Amino acid sequence: MKILLLGSGELGKEFVIAAQRIGQTVIAVDSYKNAPAMQVAHGFEVINMLDGAELDRIVAKHQPDFIVPEIEAIRTERFYDYEKQGITVVPSAKAANFTMNRKAIRDLAAKDLGLKTANYRYATTAEELQKGVEAVGMPCVVKPLMSSSGKGQSTIKTAADIKKAWQYAVEGSRGDVVEVIVEAFVKFNSEITLLTVTQNNNPTLFCAPIGHRQERGDYQESWQPARISEKDLYEAQDMAEKVTEALGGAGLFGVEFFLADDGVYFSELSPRPHDTGMVTLAGTQNFNEFELHLRTILSLPIAGITLEKAGASAVILASENSTNPTFTGLEKIAALAKTDFRIFGKPSSRPYRRMGVALTNDTLETPIEEIVERAKKAAALIEVHY
Ligand SMILES: Nc1ncnc2c1ncn2[C@@H]1O[C@H](COP(=O)(O)OP(=O)(O)OP(=O)(O)O)[C@@H](O)[C@H]1O
Ligand SMILES: [Mg+2]
Repeated sequence: MKILLLGSGELGKEFVIAAQRIGQTVIAVDSYKNAPAMQVAHGFEVINMLDGAELDRIVAKHQPDFIVPEIEAIRTERFYDYEKQGITVVPSAKAANFTMNRKAIRDLAAKDLGLKTANYRYATTAEELQKGVEAVGMPCVVKPLMSSSGKGQSTIKTAADIKKAWQYAVEGSRGDVVEVIVEAFVKFNSEITLLTVTQNNNPTLFCAPIGHRQERGDYQESWQPARISEKDLYEAQDMAEKVTEALGGAGLFGVEFFLADDGVYFSELSPRPHDTGMVTLAGTQNFNEFELHLRTILSLPIAGITLEKAGASAVILASENSTNPTFTGLEKIAALAKTDFRIFGKPSSRPYRRMGVALTNDTLETPIEEIVERAKKAAALIEVHY
């Protein structure tokens, strides 16, 4: 089968490796040359994926069986046409299109499906934001409708923050829409990603929940399994099943939830492997999230997902700009037991750019905090040079 991968970062790279291992052909696409997934794919294209004509051109050129989006910033409206042409968009054109804009997915989840979410409003001006803040109360979180990795996102604590939050959101906004969502701050005890696998003609499967800690809108450590009550897990699975079913198609989704004293809140989802799910590269499961995504796309039945070990991942970040980053300390991290790592091979660095990840695992009886601590220490052994 021929797969056109839209987005060629570290998640795409692992997906390509999984595909290569079972003999599939992948063309990797991104906006810059030598992106991680391109380094392991059969071919590559460098285009602006927000440009519909450019997308049309490469789809016509490569005639893929599958289009697999790795990122949100794509002219996803075109996907409906590709589906009509008989190409399978993963997991579905609707899933990719609805999740590129926070409004579509939030309204689907909260209004159509009745899932519990933070109270929210939308705003297209600073004045509307003011009204929205009054409606949801403070503290509250403002996010551009089109953004990811926490870009343009800020928390409003007092009325004096509103103007700043609006400005910041406008600057961090991607694409042609300048509109924000303002939502009540959820005082959660922890947050989880529930990797959910929908299959053609087979039941939906869930991975063990993944816990994670975020800073500046990006995850720092993730671990599996996360601590969660049976009741909360059941609620999260029920919500994940409803929202993935409404979006349609087969694939792995990363469904994000907040766990608070008053229950589970649906936050958002990615219809594709999730960055926090890189913990599955630590050998926590019989299949990692990339293998699961691939297999379900190809309609290969997945008999079951089993949790084999407890594991953690900790990110390796750059702190400076460079067009030739190099790494030392590999021999130090390699010397650690029950530890592994990835260096993504990104051709350039900038402050906070994720360059690699440290992975640790241990028995399911080991306290998860210990495994996370080991992952953090392992990540700190790698030094980036600029
Ligand atoms: N309403 C909220 N209450 C409390 N914390 C929040 C809220 N919304 C977001 N956050 C915090 O900010 C993080 C990022 O938010 P969100 O996932 O909505 O943004 P994102 O830009 O889509 O991030 P990513 O693309 O990395 O998943 C959350 O994981 C959570 O830690
Ligand atoms: Mg998120």
